[in-house]
Formats: sequence, C-alpha cells, structure tokens
Amino acid sequence: MTIPTNGGAQSPNLDNQRLSAQLELKNRALAATDEGITIADLSLPDNPLIYVNAGFERLTGYSAAEVIGRNCRFLQGPGGNPQTVDILRSAVRERRAVTVQLLNYRKNGAPFWNRLSITPVSDATGVVTHFIGVQSDVTVEREATDALREANERLRAASEAMRLNLQAAEAVQRSLLPAQLPHVPGMNFAFKFRPCHDVGGDCLNILRLDDRHLGVYILDVSGHGVAAALLSVTLSHMLSVIPDRSFLYRASGDCPGGYRISSPVEVVTRLNQHFLQNPGPLQYFTMIYGILDQVTAKFRYVSAGHLSPIHFPYGHAPRIRETGGIPAGLLSQAKYEEHTIVLSPGDRLYLGTDGIMEAESASGDEYGLDRMLATLGQCSALPLAESLTVLMDAIEEWSVPVGPADDASMLIIERCA
Ligand SMILES: Cc1cc2nc3c(=O)[nH]c(=O)nc-3n(C[C@H](O)[C@H](O)[C@H](O)COP(=O)(O)O)c2cc1C
Repeated sequence: MTIPTNGGAQSPNLDNQRLSAQLELKNRALAATDEGITIADLSLPDNPLIYVNAGFERLTGYSAAEVIGRNCRFLQGPGGNPQTVDILRSAVRERRAVTVQLLNYRKNGAPFWNRLSITPVSDATGVVTHFIGVQSDVTVEREATDALREANERLRAASEAMRLNLQAAEAVQRSLLPAQLPHVPGMNFAFKFRPCHDVGGDCLNILRLDDRHLGVYILDVSGHGVAAALLSVTLSHMLSVIPDRSFLYRASGDCPGGYRISSPVEVVTRLNQHFLQNPGPLQYFTMIYGILDQVTAKFRYVSAGHLSPIHFPYGHAPRIRETGGIPAGLLSQAKYEEHTIVLSPGDRLYLGTDGIMEAESASGDEYGLDRMLATLGQCSALPLAESLTVLMDAIEEWSVPVGPADDASMLIIERCA
C-alpha cells in the first residue's frame, strides 16, 4: 500500500518525476521499518485508518485491505486498561500528541503490548486533519518490567516478614534479660545491653542461687544476629534457677532439696562439654560466671576467654583482674581456673563484653581500654545506672554514624560504701 498523496503539500517548482521519486522513496522507507505506521483521517466519521505500512501488517497480522476504513480500536480486547483508552480518546478529541502502552490483540488472537504514539498532522492552514500513529511491540520489555516489579514486591514482602521476625526474636531475647535485679542489702547492681542488630549474642544475669549466694554471668556468643541470639537464649535457659534443668546446680542427696550449688569451675566446664558433645553450627562463647557471697562480698569466678573484669577499689586506681581460659565450645581438654575478688565498701566491679572497647570511630580507631577506664573513672561518683548511660552514650558517640559493630553489654556490682 502506498502513502496517499491527495491533500499533501506539493511545491509547484518540483517536476513530476522528482516528486514521484521522492514519494517512492518515502513509501519504501515506511515499508521497511519494523514499527507499525498508521494514518487516521479526522475528516471522516469515526476517524478511520486511511494508511497502514507493512510493519503494521507484520505486527498485527491484518492486511491493509482488512483494516483501511476502520477505527484502530479493533485491536483492543479483554483485559485492557480503560483509563489508557480514555487518555487516547481525550488526546484525539483535543488534537494532542500522546504516547501510551496498551494491550492489543493480533489477528490470530495473541495478545501483545503495544507502545502507541499518536501525533496530530495539520494542513497548510494549521487545521489538524490527520493523526499519524506509530505502533511498537514492547511485550518482551513489558513482561521483563512486570516480572522485575513482581520480584521486587516479593523481595519487599520477604524482607518485611524477616524484619518482623527479627523484632519478635528481639522481644524474646529482651524478655530473658533480668526484669529486675535482686535487692541485696549493702549491694547495688546495674546492667546495660545494646545489641548491634535487632538481636544480639550477648547475655547476662544476676540470679539468687540461695539465701546467701548470687550467681552472676555475662557471656558473648561468637558472631551476632539470629544464630548468636538463639545460642544465647539456649544458654540463658541452662543458667536458670530451676535446679533440675539448670547447670548452676548438681543433684546431691546430702543437701536439702536434693541439689547443691555448682562451683563456677563446674558450671563452665559442664557448659564447655555440653556444647562439644552437641555440636551445632560452629559457634563458641566467652563468659564469666561467678558466685557472689552476700555476707563476705567475695566474688569467686571463672573466665572462659572473656574480657577481664575491671575492679575499681574505692578511691584507688582501677585494676584489670585475672581472666584466661579458653572460650567454651572449642576444646574438650579446656581447663578452667577459679579466681577471687573481694569487694571492700565502696568498690565497684565491671563485667563487660568486647563490643564496648572494640567500637570503632569513623576513622577506624577503637574506643579501647584506656578511654573506657577514663570514662568509668569520671563516673565513679554517679549512681550505677547513670554511669552506664554515660559509658554507652560515649561509645555511641565514638562510633557515629553507624554505632558499635558488635553487641555491647556491661554489668556492675557495687558494694555500698
Ligand atoms: C493514528 C491512530 C492510531 C491508533 N492506533 C491504535 C492502536 O494501534 N491500537 C489501539 O488500541 N488504538 C489505537 N488508536 C486509538 C483508537 O483509534 C481510539 O482513538 C481509542 O480507542 C479511543 O477512542 P474510543 O474510545 O472511541 O475507542 C489509534 C488512534 C489513532 C488516531
């Protein structure tokens, strides 16, 4: 089919031969293009097509003879978007150009996504007489975009579900922290726990073992996130005050109630053996477990590769106390040794996890032991909870903008002055 020439502007100076050569070239160019090209006549009722190129015939499967004289809406069918058709209708009515994507059907009934641009064409007097339409098959791009959008939506939903799960896990983990610490005449206790993700691998508690003794532990599971939190939750169950399921007691016929308190060495050794006999994913933990005698203020403890306790004797310089041992869950022959700290009136004992000292500044410097001791020294006259807030705020500020990269926890025992 050739492009109609009646009504087209012609230069009176061009001779007929040149004019027909030019038209021939235009017709060949229009026939060669992959895009569908159509012309609708606005002077005829219902704006019928008066020209379609070969590209349109290939795209739709309709021959020119089948479609000339019809409005191009015959390509539409079920599942189309009425709002897109409204946009086209308004553009034709208002003689404006517009580009839309709409669902069309080929002659054989196969659907395809048509990117349609229609542009008004004016005559010499400026009156819009025709519309030219350009149709492109964008089914592949459209399906890829739709698939990407759906994949993004699924990803967003999955990440939201994961966020909610983490929140729930965090609530479970927080519920295992001491709701309130024991009230012991002559002693004060405080703690702070700051997981670096929603859930963390640090865990701590002070438990009343009997009328005289308190069990104190702080532990740090390797790694952080859900796996570390799950292990710390398991450990907090093993370190409970329910004798028949706790590692803190041993069955003993000689003792009232049938149980005696396990020594710190027994507790840590048993935990180490338990995790070596029941290997899960490669995880280990460092910990300090100790027993505080309320009457003598003597703290007997064992360290499994944990950070040294920091003892602030009242009015004196801080002392970094004995640590050692191998993290639990690594080596079956690991031997653990008991150490003792006696708290005099006014003394404080700090048990922390390494997330505090290892908090890094933007330039990569660690907060470090010296800065921590200086901060704790400045807070020595503050109530315990306040001094912990000062310390945590200081490391938070140090590690701006991301915050500490590991869980950071601290527990303080004070013998009242
Ligand atoms: C030049 C031109 C080409 C068009 N090509 C198509 C097309 O390929 N597919 C389609 O669904 N509609 C096409 N249309 C739009 C319809 O012809 C019609 O304008 C649209 O369906 C809105 O009007 P209606 O509500 O009267 O159907 C074209 C319109 C013009 C002016």
